Amino acid sequence: MSSSFLSLERVSRCFGTGHAAVQALSEVSFSLAAGEQAALIGPSGSGKTTLLNVVGALDRPSSGRVFIDGECSSAFSEAQAAEFRRRRVGFVFQDDALVPELTLEENIALPLVLLSVPKVERQQRVAELLTEFGLQDRAKAYPPLLSGGEKQRGAVARAVIHCPGILLADEPTANLDAGAATRVIQKIQKLANQQGMVVLVSSHDPRVFEQFPLRLCLEDGCLVGAPGC
Ligand SMILES: Nc1ncnc2c1ncn2[C@@H]1O[C@H](COP(=O)(O)OP(=O)(O)OP(=O)(O)O)[C@@H](O)[C@H]1O
Ligand SMILES: [Mg+2]
Repeated sequence: MSSSFLSLERVSRCFGTGHAAVQALSEVSFSLAAGEQAALIGPSGSGKTTLLNVVGALDRPSSGRVFIDGECSSAFSEAQAAEFRRRRVGFVFQDDALVPELTLEENIALPLVLLSVPKVERQQRVAELLTEFGLQDRAKAYPPLLSGGEKQRGAVARAVIHCPGILLADEPTANLDAGAATRVIQKIQKLANQQGMVVLVSSHDPRVFEQFPLRLCLEDGCLVGAPGC
């Protein structure tokens, strides 16, 4: 059996206190091996974004532990978490998070700028990804002038440019028609296979999650089928 790359041990996340408390995640446990790809599915409010944020060390569990590549990421200091996100994680956020003041190619290059990768290397990698995602004609455009689909493809390109060990994509195809959504997922899967990335893609859309043989289903913060839920 392959050893796990990502492992969650009874992860819970509660927001607020007292009557206002919301139990967004309840004792979620699962493991993924290196290179394994899974869809994260569940109704609105079931905890998908919360789970992705906890896995990507943008947020901490209220209890339980997260291990990535042998390290307990849920115990990182703020500085360690920031460094971990910069180097090891690619995020595609649910709300489009391209920087409006930067061109598409500058947005895609951003993770490499933060890692001080030399300009020539950055330009080469950006050009490869613009071509891969069919965006080469839009390189100099600013995000407000891009279509929803172009922005989403750009967000995925930006998330993978630094070859992270783990790609967390929150509804990455919400603005796309069926054909375009399928192509984006196929590109994510192709890049993940090439780079050996762990992938977690949240989606409500069966046309998206049916492309993943492995599916994790959340309901009211619980992994469906997990003991105690
Ligand atoms: N910062 C927060 N403060 C308080 N409650 C929160 C916070 N973030 C999320 N929640 C609550 O936690 C629950 C899970 O939210 P989450 O955003 O993870 O759901 P989701 O499955 O991503 O939903 P959607 O499909 O609509 O994006 C919801 O009840 C939500 O209102
Ligand atoms: Mg969400």
